[in-house]
Amino acid sequence: MKFLCGIPLVIVLLVIACGCTGPAVEPATTLTVTAVGTPIPASASEPLAELSTTNPNASLTLDPGAVIMAFHAANPGKMTLTSSCGPDWGAYDDIDITSSYAGTLAFEIPARGVCSFNLTGPAGWIAQVQLPDAKAPLAVPVNLSGAGTLVSPSFTLEKGQYIFERKETGLASPEYAIRYANGSYLMDANNTVVQPGFGMISDETFRIINVPESGTYFLGVIARSNPAAWNASIQLMPVIPAMGPGPELTATVQALFFFLGLLHRFNSVLRQVRVAARPGRMDYIELHENTSLMPIMEWTTDLSVSVSEIDEQHKKLIALINKLHDAMRAGQGKQALEGTLQELAAYTVYHFSAEEKYMEQFKYPRLPSHRAEHAAFVKKVTDFQKEFAENRLGLSLELMNFLKDWVNNHIKETDKQYSATFRAGGLT
Ligand SMILES: [Fe+2]
Repeated sequence: MKFLCGIPLVIVLLVIACGCTGPAVEPATTLTVTAVGTPIPASASEPLAELSTTNPNASLTLDPGAVIMAFHAANPGKMTLTSSCGPDWGAYDDIDITSSYAGTLAFEIPARGVCSFNLTGPAGWIAQVQLPDAKAPLAVPVNLSGAGTLVSPSFTLEKGQYIFERKETGLASPEYAIRYANGSYLMDANNTVVQPGFGMISDETFRIINVPESGTYFLGVIARSNPAAWNASIQLMPVIPAMGPGPELTATVQALFFFLGLLHRFNSVLRQVRVAARPGRMDYIELHENTSLMPIMEWTTDLSVSVSEIDEQHKKLIALINKLHDAMRAGQGKQALEGTLQELAAYTVYHFSAEEKYMEQFKYPRLPSHRAEHAAFVKKVTDFQKEFAENRLGLSLELMNFLKDWVNNHIKETDKQYSATFRAGGLT
């Protein structure tokens, strides 16, 4: 794709270039956006224009809002879409197609004006300019899957934090952009584009996104090759569970004793690293310099709970602990460390709620004690987040070791107990 002047799609490429910046527990909506080879996605209204090999141009007077270019290519090759809308913007997109494929692209029309479209490609293509489908927007959580460059159906997001998760990573992943119903890009309070924003070679699978205002949105997906399968989900950030032991804890005293031992150790660590808050204080301290480049923790088969979905979540959790450890060793600033801490806390809550949902579903008898362990750990992490933000506590190797030990022991001693129940319930 090459840039001519202010086309919205170029924002997507800028995000790809700079690399700036979870599975659903029980998604309410699972949707395949467009099957490979589907001629043209159905539109709620008659197309505004049809283009083909013999009639590759369209010129339309359009009102402000979004328009969709839906195309179907029968043969491999490079398709080039050139578009312009008044004197303010124009662009062309090169779309590499490797087999028969149908795709969609969205354009923002910022002001009423004459817009022109031209499409070229290997013989056998057709295209339509359409208005977006106006059917009722989807509700989160939404699971979307598709193949190649596509525009998703619209969905409603309320103001708040969400987890955006993808399955494909690195170059296998397309670039995702959340856009308002009028085609413009989701912006935050600082007028910065809000994107999932994975870099081209990133192996991260989820991002926390902040939606500054409630509204209707859609997902623009720009694939690096077409067709190429992708999967993404958007779900509300789980609520951190309320603390406080319930009456059911009396049956699980033994399990709690084990956990309380770990908490005691954690508290002793906190005492060691507690520092007085004063202006100019370092953002973190590291009591024991660790020059090793090895990750602090690795997932190994002895941590498997014999349920692939949960194993994958544990791997992500461990990856986030390593990310925090790396950030600490690299001496990243407070803001960056806070962001990584938030990621770890959010994913921890998300993962715990996923486990607990299955425990409820399968009527797992140890749910109360397991939930109590989760809640206590989340409280410790969020307490630490608060103290870190207030400069009352720094990151340390001891804290990292606590996180590592807790996750390691929790998986081995507590999570593994539900394996048989989860598998009997149908999980593999
Ligand atoms: Fe657990």
